[in-house]
Parts: sequence; structure tokens; C-alpha cells
Amino acid sequence: MIHNLALAGCGNVGTALLEILNEKRAELSERHGFNFRVTLITDLMKGTVLEPEGLDLEKVLKDLKESNSLDSFPKAQGAFGELLERSRSTMMAEATPTNLKTGEPGLTHIRTALSRGIHVTTTNKGPVSVAFDELTTLAKSCGAKFRYEGVVMSGTPLLQMLQYGMAGCTVQKIEGILNGTTNFILTKMNESGSSYADALDEATSLGYAEADPSGDVEGWDAAGKVSILAKVIFGKNIPVSEVDRQGITCVTPEKIKEASENGYAVKLIAGLNMLNGIPYAYVTPKEIPLSHPLASIKGATNAVSITTDNLGEVTLIGPGAGRRETGQALLVDLIAMCKD
Ligand code: HSE
Repeated sequence: MIHNLALAGCGNVGTALLEILNEKRAELSERHGFNFRVTLITDLMKGTVLEPEGLDLEKVLKDLKESNSLDSFPKAQGAFGELLERSRSTMMAEATPTNLKTGEPGLTHIRTALSRGIHVTTTNKGPVSVAFDELTTLAKSCGAKFRYEGVVMSGTPLLQMLQYGMAGCTVQKIEGILNGTTNFILTKMNESGSSYADALDEATSLGYAEADPSGDVEGWDAAGKVSILAKVIFGKNIPVSEVDRQGITCVTPEKIKEASENGYAVKLIAGLNMLNGIPYAYVTPKEIPLSHPLASIKGATNAVSITTDNLGEVTLIGPGAGRRETGQALLVDLIAMCKD
């Protein structure tokens, strides 16, 4: 079977997915039975290109590399649902920028695809955080699959581990570093004496930061992630606005230096626990003793410790941001959806 893939959002992450798909086409077919053609790419800045027989990926990638555009292709117009139908899409990867207040434009893309029975994977925290119940119910009622591995810890498979690998465990609490950009900034400020602004610029150019990086530095991104984890782990709604949240904008180079001299590293810590049936989620900068494993997590790496009944404490460390790392999250979901 050949899957017709639509890509909504062709920025860093969407482009990385296309690169991986192009590089690994033979391996994906042989090892995973995943055969595909990309029939639709739509991007707010680059326009929409559509070919039901499959776009020439080499040509698409050349355009993206040389001019960050899709200008070699004629542009298609139309409402999103119509574009999905004309491209005969059967799967969609959604990687538009996150808006944690409205979930848009991803929310409309995902609703439109699921309601047509098109399987969806997204790396976009907005729709998952804003409309988790609606989208999972819609997927079920339309016979479509809905996966979102990349919304927490990019391609590091935290959600698959929680949902499948740890099925049957009761999670009591989780705590860790869930935002790559802020960890990158804090690491740079501590180790290379970079200024806050330079470190943020570097995180942005490496593709770690959100389209609006205030979402990272003010803790909204990590808050969105714990809000999603509250749903996945406890089945509880904690809206992002109810996460007890503080970002790193108050962390000065002096504070970092002083902490370091006293044997601590400043980290933006996100956590979630359940007290007497009431879930509590927070994001806050904390001074972590240098002897603690979280103190050694550098750059855009994330780490999370999960305390459970059957397994005690399980710690997962891996990339938390990055173009190829997040492209991998879309890929693992596409492979899973073609196998399920
Ligand atoms: N901006 C996010 C981060 C990207 O830095 O962690 C991955 O969600």
C-alpha cells in the first residue's frame, strides 16, 4: 500500500521530515513497509504545492535549500479540506508554529484532516494542549489515527514510553527539563559566558526556539508540555493558564555565576504530580546541586524522571528540540500509523 502524505508547515521541522523521507525511502519500505508519496505541501510563507501522483522530493528539497521557497512549482489554491481531497492525502504531518492560546492554524488543519478519516501526526503543542479531548474523540469517530510524539521531548520517545512501554504502571510524579531552548541558553551563559541575547539568537538559528521565543523563555512552552503530560498520564485537564509558571527572564548572569560557585546549576524545571487526586503542574527555575543528574543536562537536551509504583524511578534523557530530532518524531508516528 502506498500512503499519500500531506505536510502542513514546511519550516525547519517539516523540511527535516522531507529530507529524512527522501534519504531513507528504501529503508522505510524494506524495514517498515512504509511506502509513501508526498502529495501536498502547504506553508503560510512558501505557498501550496500539490501533485496526487507524488511531488518530486529532490526538486522540492533543492528549492527549499537554494531559495527557501517552493518557487519551481505551480501554486495550488483552495480551502484546506479541498486541498487534502485533491491531493488524495491519506496521512498528514502537521508542523506549523505553536499557538498555545488558540491552537491555530494547526487546530483547523488537524480537525479538517481527521474529519475526512486522514491519519494525523503533529509536533504542534497548541492543538494538542487546547483541544486534546475533542481531537482524540474526533479521530476515533472518523476511524483516523492521531499521534503527537513530537510535542514533548521532540523525537525522544517519551509519549510512546509512557503509553506503551510503561502501560500498567501508575505514575506518581514526573520532573525534569522539558524546554531545549532555555536549557541551551542557561548552559551557554554558564559555560561560555554568553550573553542572554546571544545565546537566544544561537538557539533560534539552530531551530530550537519557537517562532515566538518568548514562549520558551517565559516558560509557556514547558507549561504546554506539562499540560499535555497531565492529560496523557493522569487523564486530567490542566489548562496552560493554570500551570504554576515562571520562566528564565529573571535569571541573570550573576545569579548563574553565584549558583555555580556554590555548587549549583540553574535549570528550568517542569514538574507534575498528583496530590489527593488533585494534579499540580509547575515550571520554575531551580538551583540544582551539581551532584544531581539534572545538573549535568547540557544544551538542548531534555531529561525527565518518572516516579512509578511498579518500576520506581525511570529517567529518560534525549534531544528536546531541533529540526531533524523533531522530524524524527513525525517519522516514528507515520511508521506507527502505517503499521497499526
Ligand atoms: N522550543 C521548544 C524547545 C521546541 O526549545 O524545547 C521543542 O518543543
